[in-house]
Amino acid sequence: MTAALLSPSPEQTELLGAALGAVLRAGDVVLLTGDLGAGKTQFTKGIAHALGVREAVTSPTFNLILEYDTANGGVLRHFDLYRLEDADELGDIDYFGLIEGEAISVVEWGDKFSEALPLDYLLVAFALDEGDARRLSLTAAGERGAQLLAEARTALLAANGGGALYA
Ligand SMILES: Nc1ncnc2c1ncn2[C@@H]1O[C@H](COP(=O)(O)OP(=O)(O)OP(=O)(O)O)[C@@H](O)[C@H]1O
Ligand SMILES: [Mg+2]
Repeated sequence: MTAALLSPSPEQTELLGAALGAVLRAGDVVLLTGDLGAGKTQFTKGIAHALGVREAVTSPTFNLILEYDTANGGVLRHFDLYRLEDADELGDIDYFGLIEGEAISVVEWGDKFSEALPLDYLLVAFALDEGDARRLSLTAAGERGAQLLAEARTALLAANGGGALYA
């Protein structure tokens, strides 16, 4: 199963992120891919909002990892692998230890190292379209990934007013 949607604006991308945030559970891993400026951080702002994060979400490009407390006492951990040059550097930030924990993990440039993909994940790929439009494509791996994809597909299509690009 896959799903694809069109987002016409930054605000809609944030709403789509919030729709995903509402179906995320402790331990879930969401990989975000797509060019610079495609909307990965914008989408994460929506995820954080839905999880009740009170702090402003900013890009983790330079920090590599930013952490936020969620309303239910959990943690949202926002990674950005853009600046890493080698998969070995993932060990330096305990990437696998962290994503296997109880926090919700959102990883920008999350498919950068194909040899270092988690077993279970939802992947949201962003692509630039005409003007401000962005295409979002959802795929997944693993048992929880597949379950999350099914839930996310329903939630995001509803948030898009049923407007699928194709599904
Ligand atoms: N439909 C849209 N969805 C998301 N962002 C949009 C859209 N249209 C325009 N934008 C603009 O594009 C930019 C997206 O920036 P954002 O930081 O989310 O990208 P990113 O994918 O995280 O990039 P990077 O790889 O540099 O971290 C913002 O300035 C946002 O206002
Ligand atoms: Mg970003």
